[in-house]
Amino acid sequence: MLPQPARPGIAAVLAALVFSTQARADGDLVRGAQAARACMTCHSFAPGRHMTGPSLASVWGRKAGTADGFVRYSDALKRSRLVWDKRNLDAWLKNPAALVPGNAMGFPGIADARIRADLVAYLEAVSAGRVTVPDRGLPNLKAVDAASRVTAIHYCGDAYRLTTADQKTHTFWEFNLRFKTDGSGSGPLAGKPVLIGTGMQGDRAAVVFARPEEISTLIHRECP
Ligand code: HEC
Repeated sequence: MLPQPARPGIAAVLAALVFSTQARADGDLVRGAQAARACMTCHSFAPGRHMTGPSLASVWGRKAGTADGFVRYSDALKRSRLVWDKRNLDAWLKNPAALVPGNAMGFPGIADARIRADLVAYLEAVSAGRVTVPDRGLPNLKAVDAASRVTAIHYCGDAYRLTTADQKTHTFWEFNLRFKTDGSGSGPLAGKPVLIGTGMQGDRAAVVFARPEEISTLIHRECP
C-alpha cells in the first residue's frame, strides 16, 4: 500500500479543539474549524508549515505577506500594507481579488458572512493558541514504512521501475510518475526518496526526493 497524503478529517479537526464549544460573540469556533477544512488543501495551521499558501498559525495581527520562511508571496500581497485584523480578514475571505488585485491565492471567496465570521474567529483562536491544531498538512516522509522507501529507480523504454525496501518492484508509465522535492523538516532523509500514491488510481504515483540534485543522480538508465 502506498500511503496517501494525510487529509484533515472533520473528526480530527473537531477533536483538536481543546476548549469548550460555546459560541463566541462574533463567530463560532466549531463551525469555524469545519469551514477551515476548505483552506487546508493549501494552508497548514501548524507553525512554520508552509504549503501552497503560508502557515496560518499566527496570522492574526500580522502584516500581510510576512510569514517567516514563506518565499512565494505575490508582489501584490507584499505591497498591500494590510494588517490581518478582523475587518481585513473578512474582506479577504469575502473576495481576495477585490481586496488585493493580483494576489496569488487561487480561492474565489466566501459569500456567506456568517461562515466568514466563524472562520475569522477560528483564525484568531488559532493565533492565540486557544485551539490546538495538529500538523496534518503533509505526511512525515522521514518515517515511512519499507513499502514506501525507494531503494532503486531504473528507467527503460517508456517506464520507470522502482524498487522499494520491502523488495517489491513497481513499474509506471513515465507520464504517470511525478518527481517532487520536499526540503522541509518533514521531507525525506538525504538519498532516501519516498514513493507516495497521488490519486485514486494505483497507476499514478510520485517519488519525493530530499533535494532536486538527487533526481538525476538516483535514476539509472538500465533495462532488466
Ligand atoms: C488554492 C489554494 C488556497 C486556498 C484553498 C486558500 N488559500 Fe489562503 N493563500 C493561498 C496563497 C497561495 C496565499 C498567498 C497569496 C499571495 O501571496 O498573494 C494565501 C494567503 C492567505 C492569507 C494571507 C497570509 C499572509 O501571511 O499574509 C490568508 C489570511 C489566507 N490565505 C487565508 C485563507 C483561508 C482562511 C482560506 C480558507 C477559507 C484560504 N486561505 C484558502 C492559497 C490558498
